Amino acid sequence: MISQTLREARKYEEAFEKTIQPESRPEFHLSSRAGWMNDPNGFSYYQGKYHMFYQYHPYDAHWGPMHWGHAVSEDLLHWTYLPAALAPDEFYDMDGCFSGSAIDLPDGRQLLMYTGVQKERQRNGEVCEYQTQCIAVGDGVDYEKYEGNPVLTGADLPEGCSRTDFRDPKVWRIADGTYRCVIGNRPADGSGQILLYSSEDALHWKFEKILIANNDRYGKMWECPDFFRLDGKWVLLTSPQDMLPEGFEYHNGNGTLCVIGTFDEETETFREESFQSIDYGIDFYAPQTVLTPDGRRVMIGWMQNWDTCDFRSPHIPWYGQMSLPREISIRAGRLFQKPIRELETLRCNRVEYRDVLVSDVVHLKGISGRKVDLEIMLRPEEGEKIYQKFAVRFAQNDKYQTALSFRPYESVMKIDRKFSGSRRAIIHQRRSLVNSEQGRIKLRMILDRFSAEIFVNDGEQVITATLYTDLDAQGISFFADGKVRMDIVKYDL
Ligand code: FRU
Repeated sequence: MISQTLREARKYEEAFEKTIQPESRPEFHLSSRAGWMNDPNGFSYYQGKYHMFYQYHPYDAHWGPMHWGHAVSEDLLHWTYLPAALAPDEFYDMDGCFSGSAIDLPDGRQLLMYTGVQKERQRNGEVCEYQTQCIAVGDGVDYEKYEGNPVLTGADLPEGCSRTDFRDPKVWRIADGTYRCVIGNRPADGSGQILLYSSEDALHWKFEKILIANNDRYGKMWECPDFFRLDGKWVLLTSPQDMLPEGFEYHNGNGTLCVIGTFDEETETFREESFQSIDYGIDFYAPQTVLTPDGRRVMIGWMQNWDTCDFRSPHIPWYGQMSLPREISIRAGRLFQKPIRELETLRCNRVEYRDVLVSDVVHLKGISGRKVDLEIMLRPEEGEKIYQKFAVRFAQNDKYQTALSFRPYESVMKIDRKFSGSRRAIIHQRRSLVNSEQGRIKLRMILDRFSAEIFVNDGEQVITATLYTDLDAQGISFFADGKVRMDIVKYDL
């Protein structure tokens, strides 16, 4: 049975979507069908298609009572919207259906596990928020909330843990056919931890252990965990709130964290080995992964950030984009990310230049656009001192530009969207330490109308930023202080 609340949301989004011109959206990044989008949810492969659900407030371009939006795709690049999957329509989720995940059941149905939010006024007038874990089961379009909801409550938490910050279950099935899930929580010290739960049937859950505790090292509350095996290691992805920057890592306030370690599956013990940011740009949060049928681990994040997301005009019809799907791997103990290989099927209009000497400003015929895939190799001019600085300026016209620059002496790469059309004094720059040898560096830049994702050194680091520059600004130019030799291949997407 579809509730009235969900029926209204479905009706509204269907009508509203028609008022949005497809060209005013990204081309191959998923954006909100109507209104507001945040975290990816329930990222899964089910009945021959990828499913992406998302935190969704259809009625407004700002965050509000959370629904789950829904879209499907065969290649993770062309998306078809489906009707909203969940609405806040039960007592246990009336203040929001927060983030969660999806898994297919042995009987062929798909199970969604999500966080129900409920606010309760106390006798002293204070409002307390409770987060519990809930389930809905469906056929890939319609989902029915389980009559036993909520399936995990404050009673399933260890002593002293927060009932307000208990969210974002990520569920998976293990070899023996039983289920595990990780959930973000806040223990008594106020920082974060990830809890591990188990279940025989994905409906009845039992607390197992604290998989990993933050102990106040990386921000505070840890949101949106994901946990999986990758290249012989185990990886925990989480998005900590309130991070302190450390050197060039963790500059995003609410940032991202990748913990690589080992996991003893017998005792379910996770041993941490290393910590790093997942993305080094401005707009990336709450990523989730899926295992593709051919065994690739693919990650998508919310391509915005919490501190700058409230500054767009209230009149825009949609807000929120997902990142490119990224194939992830571990090399030399670090997380690597590459644009999903299916992106290559969108490539057209190849333009290539070799050995271009860049000193001062260079424009290259055929290289422009806001939906492009650029591969750039840089090296210093032979027999010359290493250049001071190299920059690519894009989304450029007389008025606007966004710049990616690289200073080899400092090994610092910077994205700067100060002149991208923003009229607000919010963060527009991010600097990141990258690896380069004698000014040699390899970049792949993917632009899709309102975003730039820069994959440095074959995905050793990624720098992601949104830019809402007028689409008239199509220019791309190059600049060097000193002399740089550049090989470049451009494709339109
Ligand atoms: C992360 C987050 C989640 C929560 C959701 C609410 O961005 O705060 O922890 O489930 O957003 O929309």
